[in-house]
Amino acid sequence: MAHQLLKGKRGIIFGALDERSIAWKVAQVAHDEGASFTLTNAPIALRMGTINELAKACNAEVIPADATSVEDLENLFNKSVDILGGKIDFVLHSIGMSPNVRKGKDYGDLNYDWLQKTLDVSAISFHKVMQTAEKLDAMNEWGSIMGLSYIAAQRTFPDYSDMAHAKAMLESIARSYGERFGRLKNVRVNTISQSPTMTTAGTGVGGFDVFYNYADKMSPLGNATAEDCAKYCVMFFSDFTRMVTMQNLMHDGGFSSSGITDALIEELKK
Ligand SMILES: NC(=O)c1ccc[n+]([C@@H]2O[C@H](COP(=O)([O-])OP(=O)(O)OC[C@H]3O[C@@H](n4cnc5c(N)ncnc54)[C@H](O)[C@@H]3O)[C@@H](O)[C@H]2O)c1
Repeated sequence: MAHQLLKGKRGIIFGALDERSIAWKVAQVAHDEGASFTLTNAPIALRMGTINELAKACNAEVIPADATSVEDLENLFNKSVDILGGKIDFVLHSIGMSPNVRKGKDYGDLNYDWLQKTLDVSAISFHKVMQTAEKLDAMNEWGSIMGLSYIAAQRTFPDYSDMAHAKAMLESIARSYGERFGRLKNVRVNTISQSPTMTTAGTGVGGFDVFYNYADKMSPLGNATAEDCAKYCVMFFSDFTRMVTMQNLMHDGGFSSSGITDALIEELKK
């Protein structure tokens, strides 16, 4: 049931590749809640994915942007402000990619050029998005910017490899830019640390099924789904969370506070 939580708000949503994407679900909920927004993704993802279906359903325009290109981001913000008819109230950064993970490189044999790419795409792009928005003065007062993270920023999950470093940096950028944007424009910046989720990025990590099931059993509420994550994001784009900033928000069914659970004990007894 929709509540018009985002009525009158304008946004930019990065990262909807296909209907499994967390950003796809965020777009659907944001649309149901009355927001207008543009959708964006890297040009290659636009060719491979199915974003036009989503755009049609949400009455949204699609603007290509490689999130590592400041030029593309400037074009994206300028066009979005024009199309939506005013400054931006919310931005979702839902972007992650590691060539080392994708190509199965061992952590003890990392390709350092690929590591740079991992950091640029998955973390530094978050800074680029915010610096571009600030320089163009494209954000509205009391706007909200959200990135998506994973608990590998705090604890090791071997197959997550260099993405762990990207997520640690992403969360750090949220704190530093949150301080700046809060002071300058009352804009809040947070990250949501989401449960393992069956998406293209998620399932690209080796052994994903095993740690998906492990996390599910280690979480009293079970894994949070992409739909749950979308609702949580939308709450953070609404006026109900105006004083929350510079936080990494655990959205994981209780995983991060659990030592062990009965469900896992039962599994280990087998
Ligand atoms: N799936 C999980 O288990 C999980 C858990 C916690 C956090 N996350 C995070 O959620 C976010 C969204 O991932 P998802 O799981 O929905 O997977 P997804 O594969 O659907 O989304 C990742 C998106 O990043 C985009 N992208 C990659 N390179 C880009 C670039 N240069 N410029 C612009 N966009 C680019 C892809 O095109 C894709 O749309 C990521 O930050 C991911 O790390 C995912």
